[in-house]
Amino acid sequence: MSTTSPTVPHAPRRIVVGITGASGAAYAVRVIQLLAAADIEVHVACSDLGRRLLAEETGMPRLDPDRLSDGRPEQVILHPGNDVGAACASGSFQHDGMVVVPCSSSTLAKIAHGISDNLVQRAAQVTLKERRPLILAHRESPIGLAEIEAMRLATLSGAIVAPLSPGLYLGPTSIEDLVDFMAGRILDLLDVPHDLAIRWERQLADRRNTGEPTR
Ligand SMILES: Cc1cc2nc3c(=O)[nH]c(=O)nc-3n(C[C@H](O)[C@H](O)[C@H](O)COP(=O)(O)O)c2cc1C
Repeated sequence: MSTTSPTVPHAPRRIVVGITGASGAAYAVRVIQLLAAADIEVHVACSDLGRRLLAEETGMPRLDPDRLSDGRPEQVILHPGNDVGAACASGSFQHDGMVVVPCSSSTLAKIAHGISDNLVQRAAQVTLKERRPLILAHRESPIGLAEIEAMRLATLSGAIVAPLSPGLYLGPTSIEDLVDFMAGRILDLLDVPHDLAIRWERQLADRRNTGEPTR
């Protein structure tokens, strides 16, 4: 008799979102909104400083599934940020990837060195050891050798470091455009479909159709 159990694919798709105390809470909110809109089950872990910056930068005094998901609260599962015993802290919790957005230098360094003092760090460490996609949307500038080395190590471990550094080549006219640019790139990395207008090829096609110069 076989002792191995068949792998049962989980449905629906699940993504873990870690929020830490770097500037850029709006990116986290937008990513969660877009994931929820794509019918993804979103598991959220937020560090203490992440909650502080979410409150200061978005005016959200507490994690609010309704606001985080733009009216799809049933898609959002909140986990206590300091509970390293939460479901998504275990390798047996099946999911399709994790993004830490925004990712502070502190959390970047801890993930790179396998330190897990809170749920964001633990869930990220587990994502790496289970060889699932891990996106680290880091925010700090300028950066020093500590961040550079941590990025190198995290990359060697299989993470993708995606600095929150939106391109300007699509002609953004608002903060929302800049946030959408990065949120769309993060969804691309997680293989989640979206229809944000962030693609250079589409811009080129639009310009050709209107007769505008492409360069
Ligand atoms: C208002 C404010 C803004 C901050 N912005 C950043 C930032 O952009 N990047 C960063 O790496 N740390 C930033 N920090 C510092 C982190 O919050 C701090 O290192 C904290 O320990 C990170 O903890 P966490 O990664 O567990 O959330 C900021 C702190 C405050 C209070």
